[in-house]
Amino acid sequence: MHNYSRVYVACRFPPEVLELFVQRFGASYNDTGRVLTSAELVANAQGMDAIIITATDRIDKNVVAQLPSSVKAICTYSVGTDHIDLEALREQGIAVLSTPDVLNESCADAALLLMLGAARRVIEGAALIREGTWTGWSPQQLIGHDVWGKRLGILGMGRIGRAIATRARGFNMQIHYHNRSRLAADIETGARYHDSLEALATHSDFLCIACPASQSTRGIVNANIISRLPAHAIVCNISRGDIVQDEDLIQALQSGAIAAAGLDVFAGEPDIHPAYRTMPNVFGLPHIGSSTLDTRIAMGEILCTGLEALSAGAKPINQVC
Ligand code: DGY
Repeated sequence: MHNYSRVYVACRFPPEVLELFVQRFGASYNDTGRVLTSAELVANAQGMDAIIITATDRIDKNVVAQLPSSVKAICTYSVGTDHIDLEALREQGIAVLSTPDVLNESCADAALLLMLGAARRVIEGAALIREGTWTGWSPQQLIGHDVWGKRLGILGMGRIGRAIATRARGFNMQIHYHNRSRLAADIETGARYHDSLEALATHSDFLCIACPASQSTRGIVNANIISRLPAHAIVCNISRGDIVQDEDLIQALQSGAIAAAGLDVFAGEPDIHPAYRTMPNVFGLPHIGSSTLDTRIAMGEILCTGLEALSAGAKPINQVC
């Protein structure tokens, strides 16, 4: 049985989270105030049993090949694992832990925020207040779209997708979804399944992307899908930017084919497509879906508990491979 006691925290944590790793493992950590280069990550991994990373640390084949043999676990402070070559780690017998479930609710809150912010033109409204350019109430001012009572299409009805649906029902929205497979009736709770994204799009006043990024989902929200959305549709993304074809979405937003977008994630973060910075109908946030203190701490806890389980020879609930 391996003891996972030498831990290196490569990412920059809030103090409350770092403390968990320092107290429980005497962890050493990245104090550079920036994301480490791959070479630095590998250098700091020397002699460590486990490394704690996050979505901005890329663990590709190359990095895996350079990891010291002491490393037996990679813990990612994220539910997404698209930055990690899982196959390469599996081949090396290195365990991967992630942070499932603990961030479902905060991400679902953020999805509603995206829908509301985009539909009610929050960017333009806030600018009037902040820039002192508001000339007073008018019936024509910033007319937006209702969220209440509309059809919500959820792409990816996993745990986050279902938490979004729960909230949306409170807005009397009709829930539609597309998923790799249909959910059992007790968790579908009345949501209508579509066996293709094309079919979902035609029923989505709001299309909310909540599926993981993978080879099969990258780029799937493209011109073909966007052209099937109803007029005045709003596209929201709480998952990963590269699920969307940026040029296609931007074209639809600029031409008025759809009304707006609420985006928490972007391809190439933080160097996002420049058009997203200036379009008035884009309500953009800097990847803050899970960014609440309670969730941040819970994400740290689940990784610490997972490492402790590995040391005890048990299979952690958050082990990906
Ligand atoms: C996640 O947990 O995957 C968040 O998007 C942060 O990377």
